[in-house]
Amino acid sequence: MTTVDTTTAAADPRETTTDLGREWWRSSVIYQVYPRSFADSDGDGLGDLNGIARRLPELRELGVDAVWLSPFFRSPQKDAGYDVTDYRDVDPIFGTLADAERLIEEAHDLGLRVIADMVPNHTSDQHVWFQQALAAAPGSPERARYIFRDGRGPDGSQPPNNWESVFGGSMWTRVDDGQWFLHIFDSSQPDLDWTNDEVRAEFRDVLRFWLDRGIDGFRVDVAHGMIKAPGLPDYTPPAEGGSMGGGMVDATDLEPAIVDDEPDHPYWGRPEVHEIWREWRTVVDEYPGERVLCGEAWVDPLSRMAKWVRPDEMHQTFNFPYLETPWEGPALTRVIQASLDAFGAVGAPSTWVLSNHDVVRHASRLALTAPNPQGSGIGPDSPGRPIAELGLRRARAATALMLALPGGAYIYQGEELGLPEAIDLPDDARQDPTWFRTGGERYGRDGCRVPIPWESDAPAYGFNETGASWLPQPADWAPFARDTQRGVAGSTLELYRAALALRREHDLGLGTVEWIPGSGAGVVAFRNGSVTVYANTGEVPVELPVGEMLLASTDVSAGTLPADATVWLRAE
Ligand code: NOJ
Repeated sequence: MTTVDTTTAAADPRETTTDLGREWWRSSVIYQVYPRSFADSDGDGLGDLNGIARRLPELRELGVDAVWLSPFFRSPQKDAGYDVTDYRDVDPIFGTLADAERLIEEAHDLGLRVIADMVPNHTSDQHVWFQQALAAAPGSPERARYIFRDGRGPDGSQPPNNWESVFGGSMWTRVDDGQWFLHIFDSSQPDLDWTNDEVRAEFRDVLRFWLDRGIDGFRVDVAHGMIKAPGLPDYTPPAEGGSMGGGMVDATDLEPAIVDDEPDHPYWGRPEVHEIWREWRTVVDEYPGERVLCGEAWVDPLSRMAKWVRPDEMHQTFNFPYLETPWEGPALTRVIQASLDAFGAVGAPSTWVLSNHDVVRHASRLALTAPNPQGSGIGPDSPGRPIAELGLRRARAATALMLALPGGAYIYQGEELGLPEAIDLPDDARQDPTWFRTGGERYGRDGCRVPIPWESDAPAYGFNETGASWLPQPADWAPFARDTQRGVAGSTLELYRAALALRREHDLGLGTVEWIPGSGAGVVAFRNGSVTVYANTGEVPVELPVGEMLLASTDVSAGTLPADATVWLRAE
């Protein structure tokens, strides 16, 4: 394994930024680790916490501020850990509670904060509460923790309403005594009833369990779900809606201010969810060191999403409208300004994100040649296969643009290597419930979850020592391996490192955007403090002003910015 010099590491991240009075989360870069696929210390083909711990120095070297770990709690893994049976323990496939405690401590020693992924909308069907609910009678307190209802029709054999699961099929499953239970996702993920005080108290306690162990905050799964409209009225989503909600409004058709006439959706973004986040905020605020909440809330428009980050709610929310914006100058300019306005209006930082474990990796997504609805994934038979070279070029330009923006940014493991989506996974290797629930009609998300390559010439590309891998790794990934790119000028890894170092040096995360007009229709151009940024999304090269080049996403000769490229210049 590569040795990394960590002598510059801070002893405790909580002392480095809070001392500066900066509220670290306003400008942080948070790296998403998908534990199944990051690093596997025991060679069983599934990543684990000790694997993550060993590789932490490389994240420190990359220059991120924190890591967010997708769920590592006890789980039957029907939805890759987003189906939890015990929120206070670590699944044996990932290690032990002691391993988690050690990982948190080692991350802190390296100056990295650690964010856990809390999954409150639903539990696993193997959770003791759900097993008790199944054993109990209709109308019992055990059933009242979940959403059980009688069916429709004379014999109750029709589901209580017409809602469709995010993963396909009905949102309802019938149990032996004839009642039905609701699950926004897979039938192995029954939704909790968040109007039940016992549910609320339990999660406050779970938060404290991890906060007591030093966790720095929580990414909150489905933070726009949780509450369902009284009476559970029928609802048919618009055809153009995203699978997780949102997507109903053109991401570029954005309102500049908070509006109160939000659509009364029966299960996404109900106004009552905000009470929950206020409650959670008081819990994290009980702890020293600025522990944070980051919400996964797929709601449109941005002005509405900003409600999740009002001063007494969460600290950050993922900016999915930004992620969903195509690589087009005017659209990007609009979404950036609308984000800054919307989040600024509530005193919150905007965040920026291009990839995660639910979407097609941006090195492929930005060069698709046919539309691809979020959640569908791409596979061997999908129309519009991405053009690989163009995708990587655009991904590098898009990241260079993103990391120059003020606010928080998220990086998904492997994007710093320029990894594309793994498209040609064999059918029998696929594991996403979406694939099964749609009978293979939607490929789902496995293609962005393949274990990442560390060493070009090692079993499983250094993911472990045995060569086992829970999803097969493409045979042509050696050029993406970390050791192929480390120290190599012009590599994607070095581009990320340089961008992160410059972002820190120039304090871009706490800066402001001043647009530079007149650079051309496809060009996004702005000044952020001591740096000017030009991103050319058009098809033809454009002229660049004279200036010292600080960063370039591709080879750039003086005076000209080629298509699909971004540069940072020292501002005059
Ligand atoms: C959102 C998570 O990001 C996704 O991976 C998961 O399948 C659903 N929530 C259900 O928990």
